[in-house]
Amino acid sequence: MPPETFAARIAAWQRTHGRHDLPWQGTRDPYRRWISEIMLQQTQVAAVIPYYRRFIERFPDVQALASASLDEVLQAWSGLGYYSRARNLHAAALAVRAQGGFPASAAELERLPGIGRSTAAAIAVFSSGELAAILDGNVRRVLCRHRGVEGFPSSPAVERRLWAIAEEALPEPADLDAYTQGLMDLGATVCTRARPGCAACPVSGDCVALATARVAELPAPRPR
Ligand code: ADE
Repeated sequence: MPPETFAARIAAWQRTHGRHDLPWQGTRDPYRRWISEIMLQQTQVAAVIPYYRRFIERFPDVQALASASLDEVLQAWSGLGYYSRARNLHAAALAVRAQGGFPASAAELERLPGIGRSTAAAIAVFSSGELAAILDGNVRRVLCRHRGVEGFPSSPAVERRLWAIAEEALPEPADLDAYTQGLMDLGATVCTRARPGCAACPVSGDCVALATARVAELPAPRPR
């Protein structure tokens, strides 16, 4: 039997060891998945949870958000930081209302303010099951280590290579949710920047950084 793919091992790991009780999990509502992904861009899960709950209570759907004033949205965001996220959220809600609803594809989601390629992919995966690759800071670290990718991950050449790896690594459709969430969970809880837990990692068996004792050196720091 061939060894299980990278994606299949991550999906299986997520089902037993990943996070399952986050308040935005278990819904395919694109509005909720969008709000949660924007909050999670620069803020850790534990800090996001109470803000997410309050925000959804106050603005339960995109109509409610589009009808609110920017001041009301900024007030609900107050304390989360990176306020351009709240401004973009409000602008995107107006655009979605004008378009008559949320676009379903990652390519169309990416045209909305504040939604980059990885966030668009995460929303499309979790709301419509589109087979799209994510590449946020945590996922970059996982892929750099697992594949032994050298160079600064935010440089254009390395970033191109990482996107190609992320696309190639996509799972069977049945594993898409668990794989995507698992990649995020692995980067946040096991393949951490400092003191990673390689003994608990489902893909340590073929991790290039681990095999070559370069876990601490990858991903490479910003050149100076
Ligand atoms: N970070 C970014 N998106 C996330 C998600 N959906 N769950 C947990 N952490 C995340």
